[in-house]
Formats: sequence, C-alpha cells, structure tokens
Amino acid sequence: DWTPGNVIADQVEAIRKQVGDARVICGLSGGVDSSVAAALVQKAVGDQLTCVFVDHGLLREGEAEQVERDFVAATGVNLVVRDERKRFLDALAGHSDPETKRKIIGREFIRVFEDAARDIVADAGAHGEEVKFLVQGTLYPDVVESGGGEGAANIKSHHNVGGLPDDLQFELVEPLRTLFKDEVRAVGLELGVPEAIVWRQPFPGPGLGIRIVGEVTGERLEILRKADAIAREELTRAGLDRDIWQCPVVLLADVRSVGVQGDGRTYGHPIVLRPVSSEDAMTADWTRLPYDVLSVISTRITNEVAEVNRVVLDVTSKPPGTIEWE
Ligand code: XMP
Repeated sequence: DWTPGNVIADQVEAIRKQVGDARVICGLSGGVDSSVAAALVQKAVGDQLTCVFVDHGLLREGEAEQVERDFVAATGVNLVVRDERKRFLDALAGHSDPETKRKIIGREFIRVFEDAARDIVADAGAHGEEVKFLVQGTLYPDVVESGGGEGAANIKSHHNVGGLPDDLQFELVEPLRTLFKDEVRAVGLELGVPEAIVWRQPFPGPGLGIRIVGEVTGERLEILRKADAIAREELTRAGLDRDIWQCPVVLLADVRSVGVQGDGRTYGHPIVLRPVSSEDAMTADWTRLPYDVLSVISTRITNEVAEVNRVVLDVTSKPPGTIEWE
C-alpha cells in the first residue's frame, strides 16, 4: 500500500541501515525536495545530520531568510550557512553554454560541501569523525531526465544528478529517488514540514544561473531578481500560486530590442514569463493566466526595472519546450 507513513517507515529504516552511526550532511535549498529529504534523514539519524545552506548568489529575493526562519524553526535541524557568492560568480564568468553552466554549478556545490564537511569535523574537535554521506533530494523525474532511468535520454544535467564529479568523496543518500513531486509533498506534510515549504513552487538547484540566457554576472542577477520578485508578488496577490506549477522568469541577457520611454529611445533586454501547469514536471502545458494579471506584471517590470523594456509570454508546452530555458 502506498501511504506517506509507509514511505517514511521504509526510508527511515533504509537510511539507518545505509549510514550507521556516521556523520551526514545535506544541502538545503529551501525547496520542497531538499527540505523533505532533510526532514527524513533527521527523523532517521537525528544529530548525525548537519544541513548546509549555500548562498551561491543565484537565489531569489528572500530565499535565505525563509530557510533560516521556517525550516529550522519547524524541524530544529543543525544548520550551517555559507556565503559563497563570489566563488560561484567567479566560476561562472565567461560561460554561456547551458550544460557548461549546470556542470560548473554542480561542481562548485560539491566543493562547498567538502569545505563544509571539513569545518564540521574541525569544529567537533578531537572526537570529530569524518562526514561520509551527502543527502540529495533527487526525485524520480530528475533521474529519468538526467539519463539515469531505464531507456532515458540525457535531456539536461540536473545539478543533483548529472553534475557530480568523478572523485566525489561522499556516498549519496537519496531517499526520494523513487518518488514524484506530489508524493514528496504528501510525505513532507506527514513529517511536519511547514506548508509554506511543502507548497512552494519548484525552483531549480542551479537557481537564477539557468534563467539568464547568456553569461551570468552580478548585474544581470540583480535585474532578474527584481523582475522575478515582481512577477511572484503579483501572482500571489492574484491568488494564483497553487493554480500554477511554477513560473520561471527568464532574462534574455544577450538579446536587446528597441523601445521608447518618455521621449527617449531605449535599447533594453526582454524578460520572458514562463507560467506552466503540470502534475510531475515530466510534461507541462503553458498556463492561461488572466490578461489583467499579465498586464500588471508587464507594466510593473518595465517601469521598475530600468534595463528591461519588453516582457514576453512563453506559450510552449513541454514537450517540445522544457520548463526551464536551459
Ligand atoms: P525542465 O526544465 O527539465 O524542468 O522541464 C523540470 C523541473 O525540474 C526543475 N529543474 C531542476 N531542479 N535541479 C533541480 O533541483 C536542477 O538542476 C533542475 N533543472 C530543472 C525545473 O524547475 C522543473 O520544475
């Protein structure tokens, strides 16, 4: 029988068997998957787990605060926050190919986890044991789309599956590997993960780094972060959060078009809105958002974000488009 309670019982047993009394770390992104994975491992091995939140500079507005406030308050996990913004920006400089960017981000994540593991052991002093395991919130669709499933094609390297280095020093713990998103949400609710996290729209691990088509720079991240915050604010205000699966906001950083503002010419960048409806992210349809909501988002973005002079709507289903642009 599939019930969230059975999944939890099975996974808790499997996790205990896999890790024994070794130390474990988990990268927490604030999203549903890593939060539920962390809560499961916490239930299984308690204090052997340390969660690491990596601020890679590719986050949306308010994200770091939500993890510290909501998740830690609800679960009481040990949390370490690392400011790694410079490291990721430096590593991404000069790269605009989507797969290259994904691989760089995945690689840097692992390096950060290695550093964090070293610090955790050092802090533990003489009794410090090595960190042997890394928890990942990999879901079944991630496995399939990264080429890990049966007969699957490699569509893109999800950072938590395809982008791992060969010399990985950790053994992976992936308690959600057979689950779909709706199942993960059910398990999360059963574990007491806050609703604000369980019902959060999916946000990819590589973050805004794969929503800037072109090279990722600090300035471009600022532009996208502002536009994304406006779109999210207006979708929430319109009460549409649970109607849409997610709405990536994408900056076409290498594209410019001519516009007019007051009596002057502008030459700015387009922002793409990509609202989608889906059950499991394997397939998706574009969401027919009300025109008045689209209109408010467009007006606000072009008024409030100086570098953007055009807002366009993506009306492609998946397939043939993927949900993210990269
Ligand atoms: P695509 O673009 O492949 O996205 O249609 C399917 C779903 O997966 C999310 N996504 C990711 N999630 N790491 C993640 O944790 C990743 O590297 C990644 N890439 C895409 C995407 O937001 C959508 O929900």
